[in-house]
Amino acid sequence: MPNELHINIDHIATVRNARRTIEPDLIQAVKIIEATQAKGITMHLREDRRHINDRDIYDIDAYIQKSSKLSFTFEMGATDEIKAICLKTKAKLATIVPEKREELTTEGGLNLIGQEKYLKEFIKAIKDNGTQISFFVDPIEEQITLAKEIGANFIEIHTGTYANLFIKYGSASLEPVQAEIARIHDATKFAQSIGLKVNLGHGLTVNNLPPLMQNLKNIQELHIGHSIIANSIYYGLENTIKSFLAVLA
Ligand code: PXP
Repeated sequence: MPNELHINIDHIATVRNARRTIEPDLIQAVKIIEATQAKGITMHLREDRRHINDRDIYDIDAYIQKSSKLSFTFEMGATDEIKAICLKTKAKLATIVPEKREELTTEGGLNLIGQEKYLKEFIKAIKDNGTQISFFVDPIEEQITLAKEIGANFIEIHTGTYANLFIKYGSASLEPVQAEIARIHDATKFAQSIGLKVNLGHGLTVNNLPPLMQNLKNIQELHIGHSIIANSIYYGLENTIKSFLAVLA
């Protein structure tokens, strides 16, 4: 089903961790998400555990396996420590991202050049465990070609540059924003032409989605976190998800 909404719940954990307490409870959030037409949950287990922790991964994976039709995407840096945890889950998809300790959030796509051999080996056990592989990449043909060669099933195109330009220029009609939309569209078509499924993610909002999604065909999944959690403060999680779903319909 194209244009599936997958909700990144990392920042619900950020709020919980701010007080090192038990609320907001992630399972409760998953139950609210289940009552909507969203298709999945995404969590990024970072090396420094700044939001999601190991317990969250195991609890939510178990909950989804037992009683939910939501799919679980495990976002991760390509390290053996995190891979060992991924292998203990039944994640449907593992999205491999670059990760630097000092960054506020993932700041761009992976650079696959020179990492082909390492990543081919790295993803083997994850695929054998029944989890498909996605590489988070910028809209660049060379990176997309390498993602395919390494053995990815999906790519997730990094939309953060587009999101930042949209904020800077305040309108999708201006040339730099148009140029980035074109870059994402061209990369999507190229990836699909070589047999990759395409997801999008980073910085997406109800305002910047419509110009980006116009005439963009066969996107599988949109992974959206910050704006959904931020708007939930005003409108509640369920209403906010519904407003994103309406934009994607
Ligand atoms: N996709 C990937 C690969 C990400 O790293 C992130 C941020 O964790 C997202 C999607 C969600 O981005 P945002 O929180 O800006 O919606």
